[in-house]
Amino acid sequence: LCAGYHRAMQKLAITWLGHSTFLVRTPGGKRLLFDPWLRENPACPDSMKKPPQADVILVSHGHGDHMDDLILCARESGATVVGMYELCDWLGRKGLQNVEPMNRGGSLQVAGLTLTMTDARHSSGFIDNGQMVYMGEAAGFVIRLEDQRTIYFAGDTALFSEMQLIGDRYNPEIAFLPIGDRFTMDPVDAARACQMLGVRLVVPMHWGTFPILTGTPEELKRLVEPKGIQVLELKPGETAE
Ligand code: NI
Ligand code: MN
Repeated sequence: LCAGYHRAMQKLAITWLGHSTFLVRTPGGKRLLFDPWLRENPACPDSMKKPPQADVILVSHGHGDHMDDLILCARESGATVVGMYELCDWLGRKGLQNVEPMNRGGSLQVAGLTLTMTDARHSSGFIDNGQMVYMGEAAGFVIRLEDQRTIYFAGDTALFSEMQLIGDRYNPEIAFLPIGDRFTMDPVDAARACQMLGVRLVVPMHWGTFPILTGTPEELKRLVEPKGIQVLELKPGETAE
């Protein structure tokens, strides 16, 4: 690759909006919004509760703390929504047109990026008009960036042994992993996940939003830093490049 190509690429930027909601600016300048939950998200700073500009919205599963603001954000930004088939079907019935359904094991191209849907061990239902609606199954994503590097967003999940396979197959450098416990992995399992994935940097999520989410980045640091894995601990609203 020529030097000009490298100069045209920006640094990857990660903004945490609290809980599992992130904005990622790719090296090619595309804006990815993960699991949008803003207005009722107690961890989201007031100044960031408006739908952000986005090119692609990725939704891991149908729980309210991952998609309560999905339709609003998609309408405001015009972004392409990528998610599980059944979830996208429901979005289509709600009138959202720019949706790209997929399923685990498959990949698609959007905004110059390759997105692969991975397994996640969790559930997926959304309360719509007082009824629990089936949203398919929970998933994670591997994103191949413009510079060919990959990142892995686990969504809500337990530790599962195929994370080793995700590491071997896609070689992610950064993993976004839940650490709060109760509904997902705790820091002990997240530390094992880091090793199975072979990542150099882990971004903890799904912690601290409510008192029942007890896992902390400090616990994760104690476990992974001796193994040379860095923990990117952001405050809600903060951006790291
Ligand atoms: Ni969930
Ligand atoms: Mn959740």
